[in-house]
Amino acid sequence: MAIAVAPVRYPIVCPTLPHPAEIHEEFAAILAGGRVTVGQQVSLLEEEVCARLGVRHTIAVSCGTAGLMLLLKALELPRGSEVITPSFTFAATAQALLWNDLAPVFCDSDPETFTLDAAQAEALITRRTSAIFPVCIFGVPGEMEAYQRLAEQYGLALLFDSAQGIGSTYRGTAVGNFGRGEAFSMSPTKVVTAMEGGLITTNDDELAALLRRMRDYGKGPDGQEMHWLGLSARIEEVNALIARWSFARLDIWAANRTRIMEMYKARLAEIPGISFQMIPAHATSTRNYVVIQIDPHEAPFTRDALYAYLKEEGIETKRYFYPALHSQVLFRDIEPGCAGRLPVAEQLAARGLALPMYSHMPLEGVEEISDAIVAYAHRI
Ligand SMILES: Cc1ncc(COP(=O)(O)O)c(C=O)c1O
Repeated sequence: MAIAVAPVRYPIVCPTLPHPAEIHEEFAAILAGGRVTVGQQVSLLEEEVCARLGVRHTIAVSCGTAGLMLLLKALELPRGSEVITPSFTFAATAQALLWNDLAPVFCDSDPETFTLDAAQAEALITRRTSAIFPVCIFGVPGEMEAYQRLAEQYGLALLFDSAQGIGSTYRGTAVGNFGRGEAFSMSPTKVVTAMEGGLITTNDDELAALLRRMRDYGKGPDGQEMHWLGLSARIEEVNALIARWSFARLDIWAANRTRIMEMYKARLAEIPGISFQMIPAHATSTRNYVVIQIDPHEAPFTRDALYAYLKEEGIETKRYFYPALHSQVLFRDIEPGCAGRLPVAEQLAARGLALPMYSHMPLEGVEEISDAIVAYAHRI
């Protein structure tokens, strides 16, 4: 028997893309010119990202995961060494470590900002630790100064998974300027999208030059002989063109997302047990996701009940991040028993629900979704 599935009226995310007419000329020029990968559009994108973020180097790549893999590889961390990273993140953070023969050591998160807990990170440092690898969570940067202090004090590399953090700032400095380097994603779910793509940023000249080589297999100066273990991670001109269109409008997207989030906050305020991620006063977020936390002891419904109810209403939501990495099949054997030190990550994963949000989402949609949640709360 067929099961009736409600049509999706509100997707959880939807990429904001140009009308074809807006990019028609450049698109035609790419096809006519024959240089379809790492050409003029890519150079312009890299320059524009450097100018906006105030960072010396940007290396555009085929996706955020490739950016993370290359950045880790370029840092030449000792094989098998430990890297401290959150459990409450997207899988690609730790997958990039495994691809590099590095051992993820899962660390807990701050219950308010959801970012890597610097105090626990310090407690996890051992002789085998080579790096700290925090993540920008839903657009919110973590305790950058505390991470920097740890890296300096213990002689560790510091790098960031900033896949979700384009345009966010910490004490007035753009995310992208911290540690040895940072990697961003421009996948369809990100605030700035290339459809698929990624960026690596760094203020280190030598590292940047190496990464440029490594995104193209690791070719040496003659363009033939391989000097480094790189990847085929070039980004296409068409993707760079879309990314430039998207990046130029970043402030519009961020403003729209702020309005959406504020409306969700205001409309859901009457429901007990629902809370939002805290953005510290010294940081800004371009708000890649709006993820509510639902406390089952105070709210009229559980996270999973709300998820199922909204699905029936044609409103797509996502348990996010879920499951926390330390309990996923791929990672759970790395350190069995580490859950004991990860209560916040477990709770965030058990209670978090991402609501629909995308840069061109109409506010009426936010009203409708909020009303549906409030109506459900009253009904139960
Ligand atoms: C935190 C985080 N890290 C890494 C990635 C991977 O980026 P991409 O999908 O571009 O490879 C993502 C994107 O989904 C992400 O959210």
